[in-house]
Amino acid sequence: MKGIILAGGLGSRLRPLTKVTNKHLLPIYDRPMIYYPLQTLCEAGIREIMIVTGGNSAGDFLKLLGNGREFGLPHIAYTYQEGEGGIADALKLCEHFAGGEPVVVILGDNIVQNSIASYVERFREQKSGCRLLLKEVDDPERFGVADFDGERIAAIEEKPKIPKSRFAVTGIYMYDNRVFDYARDLKPSVRGELEITDVNNAYIAAGTCYFDVLDGWWTDAGQFESLYRAAQLVAEERMKKSLTPV
Ligand code: G1P
Repeated sequence: MKGIILAGGLGSRLRPLTKVTNKHLLPIYDRPMIYYPLQTLCEAGIREIMIVTGGNSAGDFLKLLGNGREFGLPHIAYTYQEGEGGIADALKLCEHFAGGEPVVVILGDNIVQNSIASYVERFREQKSGCRLLLKEVDDPERFGVADFDGERIAAIEEKPKIPKSRFAVTGIYMYDNRVFDYARDLKPSVRGELEITDVNNAYIAAGTCYFDVLDGWWTDAGQFESLYRAAQLVAEERMKKSLTPV
């Protein structure tokens, strides 16, 4: 199982914070944003990780993370996404790195409270298809949203005006190698990007999409409100831990 962190894009919703630097290098409380998804993958036992960067300050990722010694890694692979082609476009750059193995993909601005190890384990047992992590939220219209048919997801709608449920598809995706076939066939959406939601809908159509509901809090950090909220959640977590006697 390999890990992929998508940290490209121009971060236009966070201008002027992202005018000179990459969104994923911005601080979330006491650490740069990219540290959190990297930690999440490492805690799930994933040792081979590729970071897809892009836009401004791409070289700063190397300066910051090097080969990942701080995270106990022997090596980190990097690649560069030109422009704002979308999440699925960034993923296409990782086909060679994946080398036929399944992958855990995490968006560089997604931060979770708890370990995802148990979900990754379930995906390992699943052997093929994809596994998504959902979370019930108050503002589903900001995300990809699951439309259920009984126990299964019937479809995912990207940023629907009238969401069919309150379950957002978080930016943590587990895929078998078919993901690269699906990504290759995509057409750009109205926002001009290759959408990860279209990849997930291809798995749903093939009847091979499974999901879990994530425990603990989850947030993205791609807009001012969510960036601020992410810092608050992390700060609260740190304080809770420092107050908990060992
Ligand atoms: C992206 C995905 C969306 C998903 C979200 C999670 O949205 O397109 O389906 O729910 O990440 O953070 P974006 O950040 O591009 O608006």
